[in-house]
Amino acid sequence: MPTPSNPLKAVRGTRDLLPPDTALWNRVESIARSVFSRYGFGEIRTPIFEDTSLFARGVGEETDIVSKEMYSWEDGERLDKEKLRDWWFRKHDEQLGSWEEFEGTFDYTVEIQDRPYENELLAFANQATPALTATLAAFEAPLYPPRADVDAWLAQDEPRDSSQLNDRSRHLKPVKRLVVPTGIPNKTEEWLKDDLVVEYAFGNFTKSSQSLTLRPENTAGVVRAYIEHNLGDSGQLQKLFYIGPQFRRERPQRGRYRQFWQIGAEVLGPVTSGSESPLRDAEVLEMLATLLDELGIKGWKLELNSVGSATDRPRYVAALREALAPIKHQLCEDNQRRAETNPLRVLDSKDPADQALIDALPRIADFLDDPSRDHFAQVLAALDACGVPYTVNPRLVRGLDYYTRTTFEFTVPSSGDPASGLGTQNALLGGGRYDGLSEMLGGPRAPGIGFAIGEDRLILTLQAQSGAPHLDSEMWEKKLDAYIAPLGAERNAAALALARELRRAGLTVEVGDGSFRLKKSFEAADRVARHIVILGEDEVATGILTVKTFATGEQTKIAQADLAQALRT
Ligand code: HAM
Repeated sequence: MPTPSNPLKAVRGTRDLLPPDTALWNRVESIARSVFSRYGFGEIRTPIFEDTSLFARGVGEETDIVSKEMYSWEDGERLDKEKLRDWWFRKHDEQLGSWEEFEGTFDYTVEIQDRPYENELLAFANQATPALTATLAAFEAPLYPPRADVDAWLAQDEPRDSSQLNDRSRHLKPVKRLVVPTGIPNKTEEWLKDDLVVEYAFGNFTKSSQSLTLRPENTAGVVRAYIEHNLGDSGQLQKLFYIGPQFRRERPQRGRYRQFWQIGAEVLGPVTSGSESPLRDAEVLEMLATLLDELGIKGWKLELNSVGSATDRPRYVAALREALAPIKHQLCEDNQRRAETNPLRVLDSKDPADQALIDALPRIADFLDDPSRDHFAQVLAALDACGVPYTVNPRLVRGLDYYTRTTFEFTVPSSGDPASGLGTQNALLGGGRYDGLSEMLGGPRAPGIGFAIGEDRLILTLQAQSGAPHLDSEMWEKKLDAYIAPLGAERNAAALALARELRRAGLTVEVGDGSFRLKKSFEAADRVARHIVILGEDEVATGILTVKTFATGEQTKIAQADLAQALRT
């Protein structure tokens, strides 16, 4: 129970953004919007939650993001409890007869299916006992294979064909199964008879269910939308940007949150639109350099690499596995696990003790086929021509499975350096090419490239790098034009009417309250506004207002008709 000494707080890893910081956020977003529009990008807003399989397929089941950081839930409509109760007892009375007719113990799982109320019982049985068979017949429910077979199928090591998984797992989602416990002697039948069944079903089952996930990133959603709305049909390159929150269950620390914001953009389209061209990669990188410069970020560094095509990568991963096998035991525990599950992730390990061994591993550059090598060379040449500085980092592989060819990160100097506000989280943004993602999601061929800036990290960096042009505190802590101070409660209505008039004329105005003493009004006004407008009995009667300008200390009388103009200065 929340109490005054223990009030409710924002959930760990989430935070409130408050004024005046939000003014800086808005300023950053408006600079980003301005840069994006100069490069021909339009805004896309995709839903904050999507079908879980979008991320499993797009980002990759083995990635940290999908395997342990997603906020997912089974989403379905609740059953109507009264209907459920009626249904249960009707079936019981009409078709099952008395419970005493059942003999032995049940050892099965009952599942309420997608369809509401009728035919929704399925069962997994170890043995088709007469009682079970009778139950199933009564519910016109099919008998599923022995439970042990189902468990074995679920426990298979090899990757299951996902269509098979989807079809079958629909029936196997634990959340939809009513497990009748056999561990409680003589209780099984009790459970079935009891209202507990209704309670349990109500609490655990839904009419129809779908696994949903708060988006951990936006690229998969953008590509899903591209496919869904046939954006490729125009034949044009699609240039889309987004600004919005993303969600990952990461261990919170400075610069790393569970709800964080990204400013991102994606360029994709059919091959004939030029989407695969190295020019696109260079243009995106050059735009980012321009954006960071316009924001006033100092000391940014661009690191890039090519992770090769969809055929280069498996060859490289195989070589990496081979090279890791004999040295694996010398690596830290995390890297030992990664060497098994996702060897590419070993490359971006920060563990200091493992660095020498990792540096000696095979490099992806040596596994690129000629088209990939040539593509990367052209990206670098175009960056040189634009004068965008970069470093090729052969270990930069990035944590999402959809990347092909160019991958990149922009960093700012890391912790200990006052130019960074990020602690150890020094990646300001990341991105890369994803030539096969559309096909992975069931769409047409649509090569693409994009990036996402961690907006929280961008803001922390700007705040740490004081004096960034365009972003000094004057800009976002701009004072209001006027503070109206009514003298006495009788003047409140007139004060609000005056504020309305001034605000409609485009001025920024705050209204005090007639109950404030004059001294308090002056103090409040001085904090937030450039002028104070005094509204006493005389002023209301004559329409001549008393105005004090704080910067000069000057106090004047101004006719209401001239007030808006005077306050602008
Ligand atoms: P990402 O590298 O996972 O890439 O995230 C991009 C940026 O989001 C990171 O560089 C970081 O600044 C920020 N970020 C990530 N996680 C957190 C967090 N927990 N707290 C604060 N900031 C965070 C992607 O998301 C890709 N979708 C980028 C992309 C777009 N690739 C192609 N197109």
